[in-house]
Amino acid sequence: MKALITAGGRGTRLRPITNTINKHLIPIAGKPMLFYALEHLSNVGIKDIGININIGERELQPVIGDGKKWGVKITYREQTGGALGVAHILRVWRDWIGDSSFIFYLGDNIVLGGVDKLIDKFKKDNVDALLALSIVKDPQRFGVPTIKNGVIIKVDEKPLRPASNFAVTGLYIYNKNIFKAVDKIKPSARGELEISDAHTSLIKQGYKVGYEEITGWWKDTGKPEDLLEGNQLILNNFSAQGGSRPMAGQFSINNEIQKDVKIDNGVIVQGKVRIGKGTKILGKSMIRGPVVIGENCVITDGYIAPFASIGNNVEIYGAEIENSIIMDGVDIHCRTRIVDSIIGSNVLITPKTETFPSGHKLIIGENSVIEL
Ligand code: G1P
Repeated sequence: MKALITAGGRGTRLRPITNTINKHLIPIAGKPMLFYALEHLSNVGIKDIGININIGERELQPVIGDGKKWGVKITYREQTGGALGVAHILRVWRDWIGDSSFIFYLGDNIVLGGVDKLIDKFKKDNVDALLALSIVKDPQRFGVPTIKNGVIIKVDEKPLRPASNFAVTGLYIYNKNIFKAVDKIKPSARGELEISDAHTSLIKQGYKVGYEEITGWWKDTGKPEDLLEGNQLILNNFSAQGGSRPMAGQFSINNEIQKDVKIDNGVIVQGKVRIGKGTKILGKSMIRGPVVIGENCVITDGYIAPFASIGNNVEIYGAEIENSIIMDGVDIHCRTRIVDSIIGSNVLITPKTETFPSGHKLIIGENSVIEL
């Protein structure tokens, strides 16, 4: 079995973060979004992975590389023909997929617990396509199946009146018959070859489309709160693996703190905490998990509260950070409380100077959102 991951698109709804970073590289609980897909696929023994990228993409390759990190072989291919829809991507990759069965994995989807169950079900039920479904509050934003007597009879893309509360998530398993559907469909009213139309066409042609319900699914749907929700989902479920280090006099469970991390005596660490190499936690800081802190950070007298994900090379002095994603190289040097925030790389936050003119002094990029 091969796997094809999508990593193109413009991420316009996630601006300004996506002005300078491919959305698939946005860190979720300390790891680029796309790493989750790669981990799941390599965990089930898939070796051959294609990544669909935008024309001229140069950012992903240095971060992801050739796949050795995950023991897989990665082939990149640019999406020719324009943004013509999810099913169009299958047309672009058709010759690479050949006659293999494959997992089609939309790279902005994160699923807890991996893809093993889906593959088992695909094989056991001997279906032509297996869709992973998840119950959602807002099915009209997704592909929605109509299910009768336990069988999917059609799938509608973003229906105004959804037939169920199920969304078709962006994880699909197909055999080569999917191309019989992908060849048949025509662009929708929004000018895209809809993957949902391909599923309906497959069913109409008499092929078997099965499903499996999954929980613990997250997809970026465009708002900053959505990224924070994904971050929470992963942090809530992260179980620290390996090198746990008990700390005298401190209440801590299940931590993964690298050996060379320096933690001052006055520091309190609670809950599940992951801290990367070379980081220093100093003074009277408190770290209350679940929290991920990257490499080479310095945190002095700071409070890193639940659901904070701190990148690499971050400096925090005196600040409290809760339920936020703080990217690499950020410097927060003031005694303030930051909540529900996403702060892009290399942002500097300092205290107000005492000199005139008074007021907030902001240097902020396009499409930023600030609550003062
Ligand atoms: C795409 C599919 C949709 C599916 C969703 C899951 O939508 O067209 O059927 O439910 O992915 O991620 P998009 O995210 O492109 O709007």
